[in-house]
Amino acid sequence: MCGIVGAASGRDVTPILIDGLKRLEYRGYDSAGLAVIDKKCDLVLRRSVGRVASLESICDSVDGSTGIAHTRWATHGKPAEHNAHPHISSQTIAVVHNGIIENHQELREELKEKEFTFRSETDTEVIVHQIDWHTQQGLDLLNAVQITISELSGAYGLGVVSKKEPGVVIAARNGSPLLIGLGEKENFIASDMSALIPVSQKYMVMEDGDIAKITPSSVEVFDRQGNPVERQVIISTLSDDETELEGYAHFMKKEIHEQTRAITETLEDRLGSKSVIEMAFGDEAQEIFDRAKELKIIACGTSYYAASVARYWFEEFGIKCDVEIASEYRYRKHVVNEGTLFMTISQSGETLDTMAALEMAKTLGYSNTLCICNVPESSLVRASDLTIFTHAGREIGVASTKAFTTQLVTLLMVAICLRRRKVGNGRAGDAMEAEIVKELRSLPQMIDNVIDLEEDIISMSKHFGNKEHALFLGRGAHYPIAMEGALKLKEISYIHAEAYAAGELKHGPLALIDEDMPVVAVAPNDELLEKLKSNLEEVRARGGKLFVFADSQAGLISDEETMVLNVAPVNNYIAPVLYVVPLQLLAYHVALIKGTDIDKPRNLAKSVTVE
Ligand code: F6R
Repeated sequence: MCGIVGAASGRDVTPILIDGLKRLEYRGYDSAGLAVIDKKCDLVLRRSVGRVASLESICDSVDGSTGIAHTRWATHGKPAEHNAHPHISSQTIAVVHNGIIENHQELREELKEKEFTFRSETDTEVIVHQIDWHTQQGLDLLNAVQITISELSGAYGLGVVSKKEPGVVIAARNGSPLLIGLGEKENFIASDMSALIPVSQKYMVMEDGDIAKITPSSVEVFDRQGNPVERQVIISTLSDDETELEGYAHFMKKEIHEQTRAITETLEDRLGSKSVIEMAFGDEAQEIFDRAKELKIIACGTSYYAASVARYWFEEFGIKCDVEIASEYRYRKHVVNEGTLFMTISQSGETLDTMAALEMAKTLGYSNTLCICNVPESSLVRASDLTIFTHAGREIGVASTKAFTTQLVTLLMVAICLRRRKVGNGRAGDAMEAEIVKELRSLPQMIDNVIDLEEDIISMSKHFGNKEHALFLGRGAHYPIAMEGALKLKEISYIHAEAYAAGELKHGPLALIDEDMPVVAVAPNDELLEKLKSNLEEVRARGGKLFVFADSQAGLISDEETMVLNVAPVNNYIAPVLYVVPLQLLAYHVALIKGTDIDKPRNLAKSVTVE
């Protein structure tokens, strides 16, 4: 999704801006650009479609000490150079923008009447002309931006420069994350602190409604009413260590293989010998869990599937749990029962729909808000009563893998804590808890064993390279695992993949079965196995080709129509975490055959900060 970097310094900022954009590449984008005020106080603009590297190749001669830069993920107007940011007005003012301006159409009409010429189809361009209009009325840049944002409706993170005020970057935020990085005789803005790792270890988080004036030697922040405000200075814990491929061909493959370590670290210090250590979730966890009689979990995409798996655990443990996609939740009316804990799940902690759902939930009388998140310095974390971190480490591949499995084990630990209150064991665990804890401890080794099946999965993937569709089947907690498997396949291989609860097959999708529709199934040895086997027979009877990941004791064997890969027996609660791993590998190897851009699939973004 769009990314912003800006700098006010005493040195040439072009390399800082380009490096910052490269660090934001993982978020997903289709074009990039920068605007720098050069030594002659001219505004120099460079934009290009495609990778930051192609922008870099046209920036050799750009040299100036104030600038803003942007990676764009198209919302209004196709990916094209004229739609890339920055947008400029009168060759004087430049703007970069994350978010969406909802009243851009009416502002565009007004500005056209004032004889401004539009060169793009973007919503952003109205902002720069509007600021220009206000400076033409005699306002300085800060005041012109201040008035302009009061006229905008929608979401924005903004960076603005003007050649009439060299050395100044104006930043504004409403609903789209923006940070101010503090350096030595230079200061920065960025939509994500990872853009600034080499130049700044200290930063402030701008709040909604804030506007800031940044120069090499000063940072002034004002709230929505224009009052000067202090924002807390935070020391960043980010480092470059996690951003190397370390010999892997893709980050996705590296991240699939890292799941053993990521799960170990997520469990570390949280498991006693026979029980989950509730105190490890923070001082407030005990009271928040005590109050939680029911759960509402909100998330998007892969994080939503993690929540959907966890629903089976919570309800198995007697805790009512409702799970919903954030973008739907936001626009419904809600009846909130007393003692309902509102939970969000997010890898990035910046997903706009999830964040907006949380803000709305805070007005609705939930007992508390709990967030399961992978990024400590993120918006969701700051806005929640309690956060339980997944320690997946930085996830760079757009298709989420290790974030998902660490979310699952975190959710299982939370489910265990809430279960204790139901079974009346106070803070102590019981035999069942001890059994799950034991299995959780052996999970990393079991994942390693599944990863050892990679050669067989590569053979399996060859059956998918020339297919246009695939069906994924699962039952119970493995239905959302099938959905996650289908999502992985579609997002990185571009094969249309759909998941069905296997029992639903006969109610429609069976009509699709033929030899060109591979059917992938997950078959753990649980109480639904026999039902699933009947569903698989329904596929075989119609000439369908089956690819099954099955418990080695499930009694499923390969033949001409069916390819079975055996997974070692595993506890039912742990099984979903294990069974998603071969599906991730299958998607990866199919995408490899298809030659797609695996880490940055087309049209997708890592951090989805627009609606
Ligand atoms: C799919 C994927 C997305 C994200 C979704 C939510 O592989 O990564 O579906 O899961 O955009 O993102 P987070 O978890 O950052 O809120």
